[in-house]
Amino acid sequence: MPLSGRSERCQQAAHAVADSAAPRLPNMAQGKRVLVLGGGGAGIGRAIVRRLGDAGACVVVADLQQDRAEEAAAELVKGGAAAWPIWGDVRSADDLETMIGSAVDLLGGLDGLVTVVGGQVAFVPAVKLHEMADEDWDTIYDVNLRYVARAVRQVLPIFLEQREGGAVVSVGSVTGFMSAPLQAAYGVAKSGLLSLARTVAAEYAADGIRMNVVAGGAISTGVANKVSAKWVEEIPVGRYGTSGPFA
Ligand SMILES: NC(=O)c1ccc[n+]([C@@H]2O[C@H](COP(=O)([O-])OP(=O)(O)OC[C@H]3O[C@@H](n4cnc5c(N)ncnc54)[C@H](O)[C@@H]3O)[C@@H](O)[C@H]2O)c1
Repeated sequence: MPLSGRSERCQQAAHAVADSAAPRLPNMAQGKRVLVLGGGGAGIGRAIVRRLGDAGACVVVADLQQDRAEEAAAELVKGGAAAWPIWGDVRSADDLETMIGSAVDLLGGLDGLVTVVGGQVAFVPAVKLHEMADEDWDTIYDVNLRYVARAVRQVLPIFLEQREGGAVVSVGSVTGFMSAPLQAAYGVAKSGLLSLARTVAAEYAADGIRMNVVAGGAISTGVANKVSAKWVEEIPVGRYGTSGPFA
């Protein structure tokens, strides 16, 4: 793929991956400029960042925690990929705008956005619907859906201006299309991602822009591992999934 337009470091890393003799994933992401929101933890986002680096993408790792973002980006750079850490809170419209602007500057444009941040357990208690406080509902909405919609609205003009298409991948959850006892707001928010993705497809497919939602079941991560073993009992295979050999 033509790499012009990319930042110099991004171009160098994409060439290095292409020239490497090491076994690689199909280089579908080679030279692609991708921002991963929430990719610094030991969870699903970190595994996504590693996969992207391995496939030759240039990655900006954004996380709430500076040290996590730095660690995840450093790991990619060590492996020969181009990666940069940035940090901020996706719940803040200002932080979000700054992070997306920084990613575009660092990468020399943007081809992909991955939204990973989300969840319930880390943010509010699991209670029945009638016991749920208004502010807890808002927190779950903000951290699972509002920021995604904001980010998508911000990257669409960038994709349109570049005229090279674009991809948004959002980490959703099976809870988005199941009943969600004690997780009503989480289920509603994750369900909203599906509607958002369908609308992006309907409005922008002709521009080569797509949005997909990856709806995981229970995956072994820092947060999920803190949850009661009751979840595991409800999984037919009797164990959590993993985010891959890297997890
Ligand atoms: N783990 C599961 O069982 C499971 C199942 C289905 C879906 N999911 C979804 O996967 C996604 C990731 O889950 P995980 O378990 O890997 O989470 P995690 O807590 O392990 O990782 C999330 C990362 O996001 C960062 N983060 C948290 N709040 C942030 C904020 N406000 N701004 C910026 N960064 C922030 C954290 O620092 C962390 O690095 C979520 O959307 C979750 O709903 C998880």
